[in-house]
Amino acid sequence: MATEHPDELDRVIRHLHSAADFVRWGATALAQAGVHCGHGFDNTLDEAYYLVRDALALPHDCPPVYLQAALLPAERELLAERLLLRRDTRLPAAYITNEAWFASLPFYVDQRVIIPRSPIAELIEQGCAPWLVNPPLRILDLCCGSGCIGIAAASVFPDAQVVLADLSADALAVAQINIEQHGLGDRVTTVESDLFSALAGQSFDLILTNPPYVPHDDVEALPEEFAHEPRMALESGADGLDHPRQIIEQARKFLNADGVLIGEVGAWWQALDAAFPSVPLVWVELQRGGEGVFVVRAQDLPK
Ligand SMILES: C[S@@+](CC[C@H](N)C(=O)[O-])C[C@H]1O[C@@H](n2cnc3c(N)ncnc32)[C@H](O)[C@@H]1O
Repeated sequence: MATEHPDELDRVIRHLHSAADFVRWGATALAQAGVHCGHGFDNTLDEAYYLVRDALALPHDCPPVYLQAALLPAERELLAERLLLRRDTRLPAAYITNEAWFASLPFYVDQRVIIPRSPIAELIEQGCAPWLVNPPLRILDLCCGSGCIGIAAASVFPDAQVVLADLSADALAVAQINIEQHGLGDRVTTVESDLFSALAGQSFDLILTNPPYVPHDDVEALPEEFAHEPRMALESGADGLDHPRQIIEQARKFLNADGVLIGEVGAWWQALDAAFPSVPLVWVELQRGGEGVFVVRAQDLPK
């Protein structure tokens, strides 16, 4: 990995000795450069620690004493390069490690998919209670990206068949890696589909969706970190509601009578609510933070 600052790299490698040194220096360097933490972390200390621990292949619960141990020169170089890569290119940590955690499960990620962070994880981990009448047997993860939502749902509902749908063949290739890594090839499949277009004739007990929902002009204004994510995963027309609107208009045809649609639109929830005054979207109170997750029953969706 090349760095824009060879002198700085050299100085860091010479003066820092332990993993703890690199975590402290990395946290300061990232904070002083004003990196945006929002892709799995909310502070630079946690992000620097994660990058250091991953590079050294240390476990999550590594006892702190080992962070004081001396490092080999090649290890010091690797740590300095990774932390400088994060600082200088604004590449989010998950793209450096090719790993992101979602609903307490690990997922392979690269720049073909956005980094999993949907607050829908909280609902999945609670078995989508109290919204489902029975455990779902057919689940659709629409706009699946890495497949994190559908795969997490498959792990919570062991009798369910899960379809992961996305318009991006690149995203589906990543989702396939995750299906295999989680050993779910017998229950989870992928389909390339422009929203519901390739799903004609199918119906589901549960549709989970985190579609693109950022207005065009707002995408331009996002911190640099977001520019590393696929633009088609974020942008949804002038008001951010192109995809969510179509999903609400079409979902009923793809849901069983007791079926439920759960979706996310983040900060644009009031706009979506106003766009469908006669649809009783229930906005979930999230315990772990985040906003804009709705639940709606099939029978309450437009015909
Ligand atoms: C916000 S990302 C969500 C990814 C994943 N569900 C997650 O939570 O990390 C939105 C996804 O929608 C996909 N997408 C964009 N337009 C689409 C369309 N018209 N039909 C299906 N998927 C689409 C993108 O490729 C991207 O993977």
